[in-house]
Amino acid sequence: MTMNFEQTLKQFQQRAEAALDRFLPPATLAPTRLHEAMRYATLGPGKRVRPLLVYATGSAIGANIDALDGSAAAVEFIHAYSLIHDDLPAMDDDDLRRGRPTCHRAFDEATAILAGDALQALAFEVLALDPGLTVSAEQRLRMVTVLAQGSGSVGMAGGQAIDLAAVGKKISLAELENMHLHKTGALISASVRLGFLAGGGTDTALADRLDAYSRCIGLAFQVQDDILDVEGNTEVIGKPQGSDQDRDKPTYPNLLGMTEAKATAQRLCDEALSALAVFDERADTLRDLARYIVKRDR
Ligand code: IPE
Ligand code: IPE
Ligand code: MG
Ligand code: MG
Ligand code: MG
Repeated sequence: MTMNFEQTLKQFQQRAEAALDRFLPPATLAPTRLHEAMRYATLGPGKRVRPLLVYATGSAIGANIDALDGSAAAVEFIHAYSLIHDDLPAMDDDDLRRGRPTCHRAFDEATAILAGDALQALAFEVLALDPGLTVSAEQRLRMVTVLAQGSGSVGMAGGQAIDLAAVGKKISLAELENMHLHKTGALISASVRLGFLAGGGTDTALADRLDAYSRCIGLAFQVQDDILDVEGNTEVIGKPQGSDQDRDKPTYPNLLGMTEAKATAQRLCDEALSALAVFDERADTLRDLARYIVKRDR
């Protein structure tokens, strides 16, 4: 990793957190319980990988950073909503998230469902209205479409449906890959695309390379998540280790064995790096993020 990756990471994380705080309704605004739940689920200690990808992609094409905050916040709002719903009893039924009680545990199930609903709507409101975003109305519309497709039934939500349908089943490697590319990869790809569009990117050849990059790291991210469910430490990952095993979820370590799962993650990282070959050193944070995604312990 480059020398100042940790510094860049921290700087982008802080920037993302400030943007989230700014775009979220204040906890004092009625209905206060709903707004408290939205803030609780979003502002907890997450890694902010999707906002980091927005900032790193924009930086790779020389974008003005102020133009990226809305996209960074929007993808994280969708992500936070997806985690709230993912943890509900009807889905993974988990009690711990980011080292704290899950949203439905800290509040109640109905509030958690509504907080997810409202975060999803907020994401699109931010993309539609963010005054820091200086692109044309047409480009903004493209961005709304990218986020909708990445989150919806052909993106994250669709992937979650595939995940639930696969519980307790034996599925093929191709089916597992398809599930991961949807439930996790789609929003990661949307983050990269949004960073590109918000940064004023128009070169379709570069967009294609970035798509290839994000497809690899999106899949690698969920492979590593599966690995951490087996090898991670609950204290460090901030969610219950062994949850996949308990719910009989198909995962990479399950299907391929741990050694091959790790080799797959590394291969995907290498592939992601080669997709960035045409970019100069301004893409180094994207390169570091690819390495980080398969090395992380949380
Ligand atoms: C966890 O996402 C859920 C997956 C899509 C694998 P993260 O690992 O990005 O969770 P936070 O945001 O850092 O808590
Ligand atoms: C989550 O996958 C994917 C989402 C869209 C939230 P997991 O169910 O493996 O995520 P964790 O392990 O609970 O964070
Ligand atoms: Mg799940
Ligand atoms: Mg889960
Ligand atoms: Mg998991």
